[in-house]
Amino acid sequence: MKRSIPELQQAEVPLVMVTAYDYPGGRHAEAAGVDLILVGDSLGNVVLGYDSTAPVTLSDMIHHARAVRRGAPDTFMVVDLPFGTYHTGVQDAMRHAVRVIQETGADAVKMEGATPEILEVVQTLTRNGIPVMGHVGLLPQTATAQGGLRVQGKDDASARLTLDGAAALEAAGAFAIVLEVIPARLAKLVSERLRIPTIGIGAGVHCGGQVLVTHDLLGVYEGEEKKIAKRYAELGRAAREAIEAYAAEVRAREFPTKDNAFVMKDDVLGKLY
Ligand code: KIV
Repeated sequence: MKRSIPELQQAEVPLVMVTAYDYPGGRHAEAAGVDLILVGDSLGNVVLGYDSTAPVTLSDMIHHARAVRRGAPDTFMVVDLPFGTYHTGVQDAMRHAVRVIQETGADAVKMEGATPEILEVVQTLTRNGIPVMGHVGLLPQTATAQGGLRVQGKDDASARLTLDGAAALEAAGAFAIVLEVIPARLAKLVSERLRIPTIGIGAGVHCGGQVLVTHDLLGVYEGEEKKIAKRYAELGRAAREAIEAYAAEVRAREFPTKDNAFVMKDDVLGKLY
């Protein structure tokens, strides 16, 4: 059964969130019993082959989230608002969030940052009944402005920005906050200060939950081990080996066998000669 926001907020064991981008991803996540699915704009990196999340569009997100929802009708689904869709004013953000909710069946949207402009958007959306998950620390959509994909919150100013940003997002109405790639001790402090759950990625064990990009945890890409993730499978290797085995059998005329083929009566065949 889909968990409600109060249930998610009162959970006594860490929340489990994974990303999904398509129908099988949604099915696997729901069958595994995760608490939340995030249709992340990491879609751009792990599915669409971009080198950042910036090119991902609202249409991309809606297209993929609809497929995830078909695979996971009973799991709380959060959809990322992609870069540029909540940066041009509250009304644009509201219109884009409404499209995501109406067209995908999402339960909530997520957006990155805690600037005064973003806080105003969070406040407007939540007051109008759209649940928002916040996101502080490393912000992939604007990572260039943060000095690249690097740990945030290591110095006084950056740690203060993260702590205050998370508190401001809670005050603005966010129901949960992703903490991405910040020191574990800072994530612990943020998590202790907030009443809403924090969901960490590269933020240590003291968060209210954890999120991983599914392609990282499944090892979809061979050879890429990330410090912030753990591989629980080697699907990339398994996929390559399976395709290599198929190719070898085709070339050796070992596949298809007669079990994979259809029969024809002699007299029907005879009439063709
Ligand atoms: O897009 C995404 O996958 C995310 C997670 C890394 C939290 O935002």
